[in-house]
Formats: sequence, structure tokens, C-alpha cells
Amino acid sequence: MGKIALVYSFNTQKTSQAAKKIADEFGEGIEHVNAETLTEKEFLSYKSLILGVPTWFDGELPNYWDEFIPALEDLDLKGKTFAVFGNGNQKGYPENFVDGVGIMAKLLEKRGARVVGFTPVKGFEFESSQALRDGQFTGLALDFENHGSQINTRIKKWVEQLKKEFGEKMSGGKKVVNSKQ
Ligand SMILES: Cc1cc2nc3c(=O)[nH]c(=O)nc-3n(C[C@H](O)[C@H](O)[C@H](O)COP(=O)(O)O)c2cc1C
Repeated sequence: MGKIALVYSFNTQKTSQAAKKIADEFGEGIEHVNAETLTEKEFLSYKSLILGVPTWFDGELPNYWDEFIPALEDLDLKGKTFAVFGNGNQKGYPENFVDGVGIMAKLLEKRGARVVGFTPVKGFEFESSQALRDGQFTGLALDFENHGSQINTRIKKWVEQLKKEFGEKMSGGKKVVNSKQ
């Protein structure tokens, strides 16, 4: 599967904390990439990427991601696999809970990427979310403010899931598990 880029803002507290836990769970093969200084060339040099996308400003992406979006909208991401994790606050922002995860997943899919790492919404309480699709979030939702004690378990489970899903290849529309990866 090659190296996996773990892209997030090194200036954040909680997103960085989550990213470090994700990297620890993988154990090896992760390269930390700062979303604040991200270039197209760097982004395109990886086949597997995990993006840390918290939701800010009532349902919007933080500035450092917003600034990369125009470039992203022109990239061909076919053949690449992404997973998105994102912090949010279900009590504080129930109408926009982890919207950033949904906004980013949709953009990536539109550019031809495969997005994996969907997780059940069970256990969360919110009104609406752009990350919601068929009873799942289009990534890993983390709520440090209200579900702080669940962060470690959720990350552990998600990384197990990603190890499998990043290893799968699409062939003729069907998922094929590649045992060599
Ligand atoms: C001004 C502001 C707006 C926010 N808007 C949202 C939102 O729309 N949806 C959401 O789920 N969380 C929202 N949050 C909560 C943050 O996503 C949450 O605090 C998160 O842990 C921040 O992660 P970070 O510090 O790593 O960026 C907001 C927080 C602030 C301070």
C-alpha cells in the first residue's frame, strides 16, 4: 500500500492529538504532512491519504483547507484512496455537526477518488450533518468536547478498518482484497 500521508494542521491542538493517536495505531507507514503548507505536488505524490478536517465557522472548513480547495477542484484523483477524520461539537453545533468531513469527502469523490473509512452515526445526537450518508458518516467523527472518553476506542477501531480498506482495490466495480498488500 506504500506510505500513507496523514495530512492535518500542525497548529491545531485536538486535531493534532487525534492524528498522533491515528499514527500510533498504524505503528508504521505514516508520514505527517502539514495541511497549512500543503502543495499540489506533495498531495499528488501519495496514493493513500488520511485528511484531518475539523469543522469551524458553523459548518465550514478551516482557512488552511479552504485555501487548498481551488487547487483540489482541478486535480485528477483517480486511483487514490482517502479517509477523512474530523472534530466537531454535536451539542454546540447540532445543525452542522462535522460538516467538514462531508464537504471534503464529496469533493474528493467528485475528483475521482475512492473514499473509505465510513462510520456509523449510532451514539451521536445532532440535527443535521453534511457528513451523513445512508446512516453513516463519510469518515470518522470525533467530538472531544462531549465524547472525550470515546476518542481512543473510536480511533483504534477506525484504524483497524482502514488497514483493511486501504488494502482493497477496485476492479470492475467490485472490491478486491489484495493479499500482497
Ligand atoms: C467558532 C467555532 C465554530 C465551530 N463550528 C462548528 C460546526 O459548525 N460544527 C461542528 O461540528 N463543530 C464546530 N466547532 C467545534 C470544533 O470543530 C471543535 O471544537 C474541534 O474540536 C476543533 O478542533 P481543532 O481545535 O483541532 O481545530 C466550532 C468551534 C468553534 C470555536
